[in-house]
Amino acid sequence: MSAPDESASSEGVGAGPGFTPREVTVHRHPDQLAKVTRALRATGRKVVLVPTMGALHEGHLELVRAARRVPNSVTVVSIFVNPLQFGPDEDFDSYPRSFDSDVEALGREGVELVFSPGRDELYGSDPQITVDAGEPGRDLEGASRPGHFSGVLTVVAKLLNIVGPNLALFGEKDYQQLVLLRRMVRELNIPTDVQGIPIVRESDGLALSSRNRYLDQRRRSAALVLSAALAAGAHAGSRGAEAVLAAAREVLAAEPEVKLDYLELRDPELGPPPETGEARLLVAAEVGGTRLLDNALVELSAAEAE
Ligand code: PAF
Repeated sequence: MSAPDESASSEGVGAGPGFTPREVTVHRHPDQLAKVTRALRATGRKVVLVPTMGALHEGHLELVRAARRVPNSVTVVSIFVNPLQFGPDEDFDSYPRSFDSDVEALGREGVELVFSPGRDELYGSDPQITVDAGEPGRDLEGASRPGHFSGVLTVVAKLLNIVGPNLALFGEKDYQQLVLLRRMVRELNIPTDVQGIPIVRESDGLALSSRNRYLDQRRRSAALVLSAALAAGAHAGSRGAEAVLAAAREVLAAEPEVKLDYLELRDPELGPPPETGEARLLVAAEVGGTRLLDNALVELSAAEAE
């Protein structure tokens, strides 16, 4: 394992012939990382942040690749399992942690800087101030996970303040999180552009998630109804909003292993769905105790009168 604030070479770890992986420097202390990114910005480099909770999969690596494509930039990946965004009965303790292989994977992608603070380094001993996600933070995921988005916004605000990135990238799988983060930087005047990157799926449609590791084979098969339901809903877009929801519900109902929390059609900012045009179909469900989320873009046409 790479010691914090030291260089960890990922050389030789699964790298193909002719490929030279980067030296990854892992920072644990906010002040040290802030100094490094400040110096990089002063030389004209753009700083791109990819916040993660580790347990990296292809979805995260796509964010990293998008970050690395930004001209004249340096990519910082944060790895921090944020206690503030987990409820008391949730999986903070058992959340998958794979720090060493995460750093190796990031080295293979050419990432130079990782920020992985301990809880005390990031929050100090008696934190009192948090970001309130307001009414939109109590909707959808927030209704089932009280306080979750306050935890997410608080940690991301801290990361943005420490790293000072020009751009921060997030996966569209956590669509509500992305909408709230965009709103936070707008409303709190944080000078970072927040962008979403499309969901990465397995070949059978399952949206990649660190929590997929909890699924045994039977539950993994059952979980496929989520993406299948979204596909059925999107396909019904030309028949209007009601038809979208009915088509998706029908697919979900065929899988008893899946306990639906919500299936909602909204506008792209998560307000009520439009009559026509772009909308988001969002689903959350438990499969054998594992909470899974997915969403898809739907093009709505006005339903034809009977
Ligand atoms: O999406 C995640 O992995 C987390 O919510 C984030 C944005 C890294 C904050 O802890």
